[in-house]
This record gives sequence, structure tokens and C-alpha cells, in this order.
Amino acid sequence: MKSQKDLIVITGGAGGIGTACAKAFKDNHLIITDYSQEMVDEAVENLKDEGYKVSGIACDITSQDDIAKLIDFVNKSGSFKALIHTAGVSGTVKDLKKIFTIDLIATEYLVDAFYEIAQEGSVAILLSSMMAHSVEPNPEYDDALRNPQKDDSFDIVSKFTEGNSNLMYDYAKRGVQLLSVKHVGKWGQKKARIVTVSPGVIETEMALKAAEEHPERMEMIKKATPLQRNGKPEDVVGIIKFLASNQASFITGTDILVDGGVIHNIKKM
Ligand SMILES: NC(=O)c1ccc[n+]([C@@H]2O[C@H](COP(=O)([O-])OP(=O)(O)OC[C@H]3O[C@@H](n4cnc5c(N)ncnc54)[C@H](O)[C@@H]3O)[C@@H](O)[C@H]2O)c1
Repeated sequence: MKSQKDLIVITGGAGGIGTACAKAFKDNHLIITDYSQEMVDEAVENLKDEGYKVSGIACDITSQDDIAKLIDFVNKSGSFKALIHTAGVSGTVKDLKKIFTIDLIATEYLVDAFYEIAQEGSVAILLSSMMAHSVEPNPEYDDALRNPQKDDSFDIVSKFTEGNSNLMYDYAKRGVQLLSVKHVGKWGQKKARIVTVSPGVIETEMALKAAEEHPERMEMIKKATPLQRNGKPEDVVGIIKFLASNQASFITGTDILVDGGVIHNIKKM
């Protein structure tokens, strides 16, 4: 099994987009990870019932110890092909430090840890957000977003987000895109790739929570979407499956927007 480079690791594997992604990889061996063992066990059982080759381990992605255990589990399970990193929280979480830590710092922990086991043909696919595209480039906060593990990075970004958790989410997701560019050379040395995917409003639990909080804004976004609907997890899965495949072997260090075309109208709002 070690020689078969077919392991797909999905963080947030019990979440909306993570679950939908898992279903696209019936020919691979899947490793599902999420915050709690209970969530992982349920997701793994459901997939097994549908005939998937799947195992799982809990991992709080903000814990480097947990990530080390995850990497060990991956190494023992086979040969690493793709990381699909969907774990994250939205601006409905009011603790800005938590958003910065889970969405950005932990993303770099994962990128660093998976780099160690990446090999030719491996790929890291990181979930950003269309809202990352609403944050203008700026040398001061971009440097902090690119280096989230530095002691003063959170404070620098906080000056710009002024206590607004939705803005912190947007900035952290811009940081995810900057991280992929920061690490692309290093991954390239191994002939491995790193990319981001930026969904628009995708109807998962995360989006439904945001919709409960800001129903008028969500309605406005839907109306402003050229394709006149919200996205479904399946809308994101196709591009992720493509990016994980060897057909995408020359695509790295870039971001793919999957937003029904709405970001251009949001920028004008
Ligand atoms: N749904 C959308 O509209 C939308 C839009 C843009 C971007 N995204 C991004 O896509 C990704 C997936 O979103 P989703 O809609 O599937 O969300 P979701 O809430 O359904 O799933 C997220 C998963 O992340 C897990 N998670 C949170 N904190 C964790 C931690 N510390 N350690 C391990 N796991 C943790 C949760 O348990 C959950 O299962 C997220 O990164 C999100 O920011 C989603």
C-alpha cells in the first residue's frame, strides 16, 4: 500500500464542504479528520456504509501535537497524495483571536506539517473564501497575514479589523491565499503543489448560521449573484477533485474563485 500514492486527507471532514469532498474520492483511501472523535467516527461510519475506503482521527488543528499525531496516522496509512483543508470557522464566532488562530495560524501549521510528507505529485488544497478578495492589498497587514505565527501579527491585523469578526474572517482568508504563495516555492522543490479555493455562499451549516445572523445581507448577496443562486457543496467539489488530480499538475500558487460571479458586485456594494 505504501507505494500507492492515493491518500486523500480531509480536515473539517465532518463539515458541509468536507463531507461533500469526501464523496468525490471513491477510488482513493480517505482520511477524515475533524475537531472531535465523535464527529470523525460518525463521518467515517457513514462513508464506510456507502462503500468508501476510509479511516479517521480527531485533530484540533490549532494543536501542533494533534497535527503530529495526524501526520503519524497518515504515514502509517499509506502514501500521501492530497490535503483538502476545509476546517475553519466563520465570522459568527465573535472571538477574533480564535478566528485568526483557527483559520490562519492553524492553516500554516498544517502546511508546514504536510510539507514534511509531501512528495512529487502531492498537493495541498486550502479553503479560502471569496471574501478574501474584498480585502485590498496593503504592505502592513499583508506582511502580518503572511507571517501569522509572529507574536505581533494578530495585533497588527486587529488594528484594521476594529473588533469586527466578519472582517477578521475576510482578512484571515486573504492570509490563507498569501500563505499559498509564500510556500509555493518550497513545495515546488518537491514537485508538489499548493493552491487555494475561494467559495462564495455555499449552503452548509456555516453559511446557514451566517444567514441567521444577517438575513438581509445574505439575500442581497443572492440577488447580486450573476447566476442568481447560492452555491451547493457539490459546486466546490468538482474543482477540488480536479485540483487534486494529475490533470492539474501545472497549477500551483494560485486561487480559484467559485462564487457564481458575485464578488465583483460585492466590491461595488
Ligand atoms: N459555506 C460557505 O458559504 C463558505 C464560503 C466561503 C468559504 N468557506 C470555507 O470553506 C471551509 C468549509 O466550510 P463549511 O461550510 O464546510 O463549514 P462547516 O462549518 O460545515 O465545516 C467546518 C468544519 O471545520 C471544523 N473545525 C472548526 N474548528 C476546528 C478545529 N480547531 N480543528 C479541527 N476542525 C475544526 C468543524 O468542526 C466543522 O466540521 C471553511 O474553511 C470555510 O471558511 C465556506
